Amino acid sequence: METQVAIVGAGPAGLVLARLLELRGVSSVVLEARSREYVEQRVRAGVLEQRTVDCLDEAGVSERLHEEGMVHHGIELRFGGVGHRIDFNALTGGKSITVYGQQEVVKDLIAARLESELPLLFEVSDVAVDVSRPSVSFTHEGRSVELSCDVIAGCDGFHGVCREAIADVLTVYERVYPFAWLGILARSKPSSEELIYANHARGFALHSMRSPSVTRSYLQCSPDEDLDDWPDARIWEELNARFELDGGFALNEGEIFEKGVTPMRSFVVEPMQHEKLFLAGDAAHIVPPTGAKGMNLAIADVEILASALESFYASGDTSGLESYSEHCLRRVWRVQHFSYFMTSMLHRPDGQDPFEAKLQHAQLEYVCRSEAAAKSLAENYVGLHEV
Ligand code: FAD
Ligand code: PHB
Repeated sequence: METQVAIVGAGPAGLVLARLLELRGVSSVVLEARSREYVEQRVRAGVLEQRTVDCLDEAGVSERLHEEGMVHHGIELRFGGVGHRIDFNALTGGKSITVYGQQEVVKDLIAARLESELPLLFEVSDVAVDVSRPSVSFTHEGRSVELSCDVIAGCDGFHGVCREAIADVLTVYERVYPFAWLGILARSKPSSEELIYANHARGFALHSMRSPSVTRSYLQCSPDEDLDDWPDARIWEELNARFELDGGFALNEGEIFEKGVTPMRSFVVEPMQHEKLFLAGDAAHIVPPTGAKGMNLAIADVEILASALESFYASGDTSGLESYSEHCLRRVWRVQHFSYFMTSMLHRPDGQDPFEAKLQHAQLEYVCRSEAAAKSLAENYVGLHEV
């Protein structure tokens, strides 16, 4: 088998890259370890920056996103029994975010790929990359296949094989947080028009949504939290306690139909490229979800990679490919800082030092009172165009 770009992984990074290359006349084969059903059901991110929406518009896969996605012009920060609105419209010159589930983005991209009748192979196994030739070998439907290519795009997420293949040349920067998120999906009407990020003595909580009748909420918990200890009634009780307001507040409750625990980590490898292998998305970096950035960052990487590959195939210009890593890493580190900032401002580590608790409170008050501080939060949250 032969192609120009072998794409390992059909998450947002791999699928957006495949689509952008298709529109630029570059051939690709996408290899995915899981089944189509699995990747379409995997519940993850929900917040799209404006530039991500623009990219999906350009890719011609945003029709359902515009019908079903929920445009938000602000978020609420809630602490000390009071809510404070961060008004994106006013602070960023009219920018907004769109709430639309990652698995819906993935469904739209898979449908477009299949409609174009381009290769997207699910349930491949034994994937191994040979960076110097370059080629990718794998097993599909019981057959061993060798895919030769010009370039390999490692879009296989944090637990993939591509990063490992060049581990010898990588420097790893990492921080693991002493807490995790217990996330739920519930059949209940959102209790607020916008997302609520709460800092409470019992820990962080986030209220988000997927549609006018489905909510997504998260609770700070311990990384080894046992879901069996969390019957639905306890989850609602804990969420209500953490979202308390002086004037009273109660969440709209409903059937919880999905529960999971997500560990929190900041992780970057440098460089993001070696020989003919280009890492993109979670394969190269992880951010804690408090800044809602992981999927947006994955898509920003592949936009840069698609343009670099377009120039390479159009005129043999390799400058974009050579500067790929440096170009991506500028945004990666800005977003790492923002995600770390939101995480440390909003979570209560076990046994929090009282001095740190006071600093955290001072920072929360500052972003709610100072227009300059609120503007900084808002412009990072909606997504910076240039970094
Ligand atoms: P992935 O989505 O992980 O895709 C990688 C793909 O590669 C997978 O389909 C995997 O099955 C496949 N794969 C793995 N190994 C192999 C192999 N050997 N061969 C072939 N295929 C392989 N981000 C946001 O932007 N906003 C948010 O609001 C947000 N909230 C989040 C909430 C939670 C609870 C979590 C867990 C994450 C959240 N994120 C958020 C992060 C976001 O989901 C990820 O950053 C995003 O999925 C990264 O996309 P990706 O394509 O790089 O990797
Ligand atoms: C979500 O809706 O899943 C979501 C929203 C905001 C975040 C993280 C996740 O910061």
